[in-house]
Amino acid sequence: MIDSAFLKENNARYLWHPMAHPNDMHENPPKIFVSADGVELTDVDNNRVVDAVGGLWNVNLGYSNTTIKQAISKQLEVLPYYSSFRGTTTAPLIELSVKILDWFKPEGMCRTFFTSGGSDSIETALRLARQYHKVRGERDRTKFISLRRGYHGTHFGGASINGNANFRRNYEPLLSGVYHIPAPWDYRNPFEETDPQKIAKLCANLLEEEIIFQGPDTVAAFIMEPVLGAGGVIVPHETFMPLAREICTRHGVLMIADEVITAFGRTGAWTGSRLWNVQPDMMAFAKAITNGYFPLGGVLLNEKVVESFESNRDSFGAIGHGYTYSGHPVACAAALATLEETARLEVARNSRVVGEHLQNGLKKLEEKYEVAGNTRGIGLMAAIELVSDPEKKTPAGKVTSAAFFEAAYQAGVMIRVSGNNIILSPPLIVTVDDVQRIVNAADLGLAAASKTL
Ligand SMILES: Cc1ncc(COP(=O)(O)O)c(C=O)c1O
Repeated sequence: MIDSAFLKENNARYLWHPMAHPNDMHENPPKIFVSADGVELTDVDNNRVVDAVGGLWNVNLGYSNTTIKQAISKQLEVLPYYSSFRGTTTAPLIELSVKILDWFKPEGMCRTFFTSGGSDSIETALRLARQYHKVRGERDRTKFISLRRGYHGTHFGGASINGNANFRRNYEPLLSGVYHIPAPWDYRNPFEETDPQKIAKLCANLLEEEIIFQGPDTVAAFIMEPVLGAGGVIVPHETFMPLAREICTRHGVLMIADEVITAFGRTGAWTGSRLWNVQPDMMAFAKAITNGYFPLGGVLLNEKVVESFESNRDSFGAIGHGYTYSGHPVACAAALATLEETARLEVARNSRVVGEHLQNGLKKLEEKYEVAGNTRGIGLMAAIELVSDPEKKTPAGKVTSAAFFEAAYQAGVMIRVSGNNIILSPPLIVTVDDVQRIVNAADLGLAAASKTL
C-alpha cells in the first residue's frame, strides 16, 4: 500500500531534480507516478494519463513489455554484474555486440563501444574522435563544430557542443575549441529565409566556412542530431545532412550522428541517418536501446575509424576511457530483448503511419490558435512552439506553458514543457486513438494557454 501522504509531504524536499530550479520544485512539486501499463501512467491520486513523453524519448515499447522485463530478471539471477574493463567480459555483452551491428549495417557501422547512457556516449564519441586523429598523426585536430539548438547531454564535452544557453551558461567556462553554426530551421533562422532547402544550403556553407576558417587540419569532428530533439524538434531539410557529410569528407573531419533520440524508429526510419541517407563515421545511441528499463548507451564506429585504431601499434591506439557500467550485463540482456521486440513490433512503421495523424492534428491546431506559433515534427516526435505574438514570434512565457501543461494533464495526457516548446514523443506503439487523445488534450492545452496572453 503506497503511503500517498508521505510521498506528497516529502515530494522534492530532499532531492534536487534534474533540469529544474530547486525552489520551483518546492513551489510546484512534480507529479508523482506510482505505476504504468501500456502507454499510460497512473499518479499517486489514481489519475491515469497517456504518456505523450514516452518516459524521456526512451520508453518506445510502452510500460508492459514482459519479454524485456523477464530478460532483465533472468540476467539478474544468473550474473547481475561483471565489468568489461580489460581482461573480462560477459555473455550478454558479447551477444549484443554481434546483434547490434545487424541494426546498423546500412550505416556501415562495424564496432561498438558501450556506455551507460546518452551523455556518456557523446563524451565517448568526442574523445574517440580526437584520439582517431592522434592515432593517424594529425595531432592538431582537436576542435568540434555543432549546431545551435542542438542538445547533446550534460557532461562538459556535451555541454560544450550544446547549442542552448540554458544548458551552458551556468557551467561556463566550457571546453575550448568548440564552434557552433545555425541550425537549418525554417521558423527561426538568421537569414530571414523561409525556404528550407535554401536554409539547408546556407547552413552547410557556414559549416564549410567555419572549417576553413579554423583550418581543416585543426577540426576533429562535426556533430549533429539528424532531427534536433530537446532543442525544439527541428527537422532539417533532407539535403542538409548529406551536404554536411560531403563537407566533412572533403576536409577530413569526422561526422558524428547523435542518434540518442532518433535511433530505433522515432522518426519513422530505423535511424535518423538512414532517414537522410547518410553514413556517418560514428553514431551515438542510448535511451530506447533498453526501452528505458535499464541504463545503457554506446557509440558505433565505421570501418575507417576502426581500421585506424586496429592497425595502430603504439600507445595512441589504446583506449583510456570507459565506465564501470559500460556494457552492464543486465543492460545488455535488456537490450537484446528490446531489439527483438522493436523489430517484431515494427515500430518504425507505426511511427511513420501513426505519426502522420499526430503531425496533421497539430497542424490543424496551429491554424486554430494564434498561441501555437509553429507546430513541427516527423514520425512520433513533435513540438508546439508557444508564442505571445505570432507576427513577431515572441516566445511565450512560463505561465503560458504551465497553463498548457495543467490543462493537458487534466484532459488525461502527460506532455513535456521545454521553455516555450511543448514536446511530444509518445511510445512508438501508440495507436491512432491514443494520438487523437493527445491532439484533443493539446487542443484544450492551447485554449488554456491562449487565456494567459
Ligand atoms: C540527442 C541527445 N543526446 C544526448 C542526450 C543525453 O542523454 P542522457 O540524458 O541519457 O545522458 C540526450 C538526452 O535527452 C539527447 O536527446
